Amino acid sequence: MALRKIVEVGDPILRKKSRPVEKFDERLHTLLDDMRETMYEQNGVGLAAVQVGVLRRVVVMDCSTDKSGYLELINPEIIETEGEQCEQEGCLSLPGKTGITKRPAEVKVKALDRNGNWCVYKGTELKARCFCHEIDHLDGILFTDRLKPAIETDLG
Ligand code: NI
Repeated sequence: MALRKIVEVGDPILRKKSRPVEKFDERLHTLLDDMRETMYEQNGVGLAAVQVGVLRRVVVMDCSTDKSGYLELINPEIIETEGEQCEQEGCLSLPGKTGITKRPAEVKVKALDRNGNWCVYKGTELKARCFCHEIDHLDGILFTDRLKPAIETDLG
């Protein structure tokens, strides 16, 4: 395993759409292992492959405080949402920036695991926000695109 460098805002790759994963091979497993290590090292709760410069629909997440909530999402899709929440959000690619975004209160996601099997995950609170934030990355969307208007003005 190896740490990967996090791409920061200003790099045009963050605005690109990631392509679906088609091969569930050693190369994907290495990417996932590296992303996991990099996310924990940076104290992040989620990381999308584009943030390490790889335009594939791959996400790792862990919204727990004790590394017990580790998830790998390949080609993830939001299949159900309910309610809304407005909470503070940040991103490893936008160091030092936070803002309030509106997200669903509950999110259901389907995604492939590292062996190509479909799984369904549910989340509320931070986990729901994280699902939305990371899946947005796969479509070139950053949390700053979803800020509530008053906060947007503050950031300039
Ligand atoms: Ni992010």
